[in-house]
This record gives sequence, C-alpha cells and structure tokens, in this order.
Amino acid sequence: MKKYDYLIVGSGLFGAVFAHKAKLAGKSCLIIDKRNHKGGNIYCENVEGINVHKYGAHIFHTNDKFIWDFVNSFVEFNRYTNSPVANYNGEIYNLPFNMNTFNKLWGVITPKEAQEHIKNQIKELNIYNPSNLEEQALSLVGTDIFNKLIKEYTEKQWGRECKDLPAFIIKRLPVRFTYDNNYFNDKYQGIPIGGYNKLIDGLLEGIEIQLDTDYFSNREYFDSLAENTVFTGKIDEYYDFQYGKLSYRSLRFETEVLDNENYQGNAVVNYTSKNEPYTRIIEHKHFEFGTQSKTVVTKEYSLEASSNSEPYYPINDDENNELYRKYKKLADEEKNVIFGGRLAEYKYYDMHQVIGSALKKSRDIFGL
Ligand code: FDA
Repeated sequence: MKKYDYLIVGSGLFGAVFAHKAKLAGKSCLIIDKRNHKGGNIYCENVEGINVHKYGAHIFHTNDKFIWDFVNSFVEFNRYTNSPVANYNGEIYNLPFNMNTFNKLWGVITPKEAQEHIKNQIKELNIYNPSNLEEQALSLVGTDIFNKLIKEYTEKQWGRECKDLPAFIIKRLPVRFTYDNNYFNDKYQGIPIGGYNKLIDGLLEGIEIQLDTDYFSNREYFDSLAENTVFTGKIDEYYDFQYGKLSYRSLRFETEVLDNENYQGNAVVNYTSKNEPYTRIIEHKHFEFGTQSKTVVTKEYSLEASSNSEPYYPINDDENNELYRKYKKLADEEKNVIFGGRLAEYKYYDMHQVIGSALKKSRDIFGL
C-alpha cells in the first residue's frame, strides 16, 4: 500500500480541479509543483493591493452554466467584460472589429455601409486562392483593417512577415456588424472578486501540497508515494524527449508600478504598430475596477520559442502534432498515469475548457 492514492504533478487548474474531486471521493492526494506558488498560469501576485496576472491577462468566459456555477461556488465573479482596444500609432480602435471600429476607420454609420466598404476593398484585391497569411487576412477583411490592426501586430507575434506565414494560422477573423465591443460571445464572463488565487485556494482546501518541488528531480521517489499519478507537466519531458521536443511560443512580461491612478483607462490595450516592440499593455487594476492610488502595468512581448523559454502556446502545426501523437501513444498505454491540461495534452485550452476536461476525467473515475 502506498501512502497516497494520487500524486498530482502540477497545481494549475487541471491538477486543482482533479484534486478537489478526488478528495470529495475520499481519496488521499499529494500535489507537487515546481513553482514557488500554486495555481499554475492563473496565479496572481498582489502588488500595491492590485492582483497582477503574473502569467498574462486571464479573463474567465464560458457558455456552460454548470462550469460557471462550479467556479462561482468557490469565489464570486465580478461583471468584467473584455473590451480591448487597439492603439495604432496613437489612433484608438475598438476590438473585436465592429461598427465602432468601422465608424472610426471610415466614418460609416450603418452595417450596410460597413459591409459595402469591406466588400469593395476585398473585391479590388482579386485574391482567389490565398497562399499566405497576408493574402488570407486581406481576402477576409480588406486593406484598411489588415494594415492598421492585423499586419504589424501579427508580425510582432510571430517574428516573421505575414507574407512568410502560412494562411492556415488565420482561418477566420471575427467581424461584427453591431456596436458591441464585448470580445467574447459567451453567456458568462468575469474575474474572480479578490483574484484567481481565491479560486485555487477554494479548490485545494484541505489538500496536501509541496511547492518548489520538481517531479523530475526524483521521479522514482515520487512514483513510490502514490498508487496513481496525474501528470500536468510537459508530455515530451515525461518521456525524456525520446522522440524530440515539442515547440511552444513564449512571452516575456515586463511589469512596473506607476505612480499614476489610471494609466490607460482599459485593462487591455493591443499595440498594433511595429513602432512599439510589445504587443499589449495590461493594466491589471481595471480587471477588478480598482481604485488604488497607484497602478501596475505589464508590457507583453512575443518570443520565438526556445528550449529555455517558458512554454505558453503550443504550436499545433503538422510536425508538432505528429510528434505529440507519438507521445500520446505511449501515454495511452500507461495504466496508472493520467495526462491532463495544456502541457500534457499539448493543446491550447481556455480556463473553462481545462476545468471541463478535469471534471470529465474525475467523473469518469469517481462518478462525481
Ligand atoms: P498550468 O500551466 O496552469 O499548470 C501546470 C502546472 O504544472 C504549473 O504550475 C507548473 O509549474 C506545474 N509543473 C509542470 N511541470 C512540472 C514538474 N515537472 N514538476 C512539478 N510541477 C510541474 N484562458 C482563459 O480562459 N482566458 C484567458 O484570458 C486566458 N489567458 C491566457 C493568457 C496566456 C498568456 C496564457 C499562456 C494562457 C491563457 N489562458 C486563458 C489559458 C489558461 O492559462 C489555461 O487554460 C490554464 O491555466 C491551464 O491550466 P493547466 O493546469 O493545464 O496548466
């Protein structure tokens, strides 16, 4: 008999939701995390009384009432609605592209006028079979939106010209013919009042956790502690990179405290011109309608993925997906190991999706 029923590697949303359900099912769990805090990428750091989203802006949104009620049972969510704006060389445009954006670009007032404008721009381009991202985007939204709001932003994100990027990266571009600046279409959205740490604390209440503890520092020892393992780290690392490394896009965050009550008037401002090296500035207090006398802002820079950088976004191109399939085959053969979450499944998951996936897994195993 081993000491625990479950060793859970990673205290992010997948690990935390699974641990919560396992505990309800009467199972004993030990969570380990190599970081010095719990919560994975939703962790917030308190600076000047402001919850700083340390690993990038996190806005909770879902269409699923069950998941919304589930998270609200741990912490109440506020009414924050994501309405980012774009700053193109000092000109401000609403996102996602909607009637406010079109009015600012062309002075059009009705949806019909905006539709005509876009249609005419697309027609003049004569692009029938887009062969790269530039042609793809132009054929979807026309010249003005592409030049001011997509081109240079995308080039900063990928570190390459749009002409040299494959068309498949942009399958569709949401264009809205209403005066609606709400970025998400989901029924429910918001930010936990008091920050995401409250959600994680609620999920992990009464569960043993060891921080600053890397599973790979002594995997034989950790395996000896529990009957089963839930692994939410990198799947390629679990298998010693035996088939090669999966690629990720990374980010660099530059955070500063400003002696200013309100720096940019919005939580998220995208910088869509190449004249600024960063892609976004996040002003964290606006997620929670903060009234503190100071503010904290984070500039977000896109990084080419390298083996040393923090893995943020999986690059799900054919080559990486094929590599992932090989690791998945090994994972499927494991008897007592569950692979879950964005790193172990090599998948871009929003928070509600990762919660849904952990709930499903625990329902399959514990029936609750
Ligand atoms: P997560 O990465 O959070 O947790 C994994 C944990 O495992 C980490 O704590 C890590 O330290 C630990 N670990 C890994 N290897 C280990 C090892 N060897 N030993 C011990 N511990 C180990 N979603 C959304 O709904 N709205 C949003 O606005 C955003 N915004 C956003 C911005 C950015 C920049 C990113 C990268 C992602 C988002 N997301 C998002 C997605 C969201 O972050 C994501 O869905 C969840 O945090 C994923 O939770 P996981 O548990 O899968 O991974």
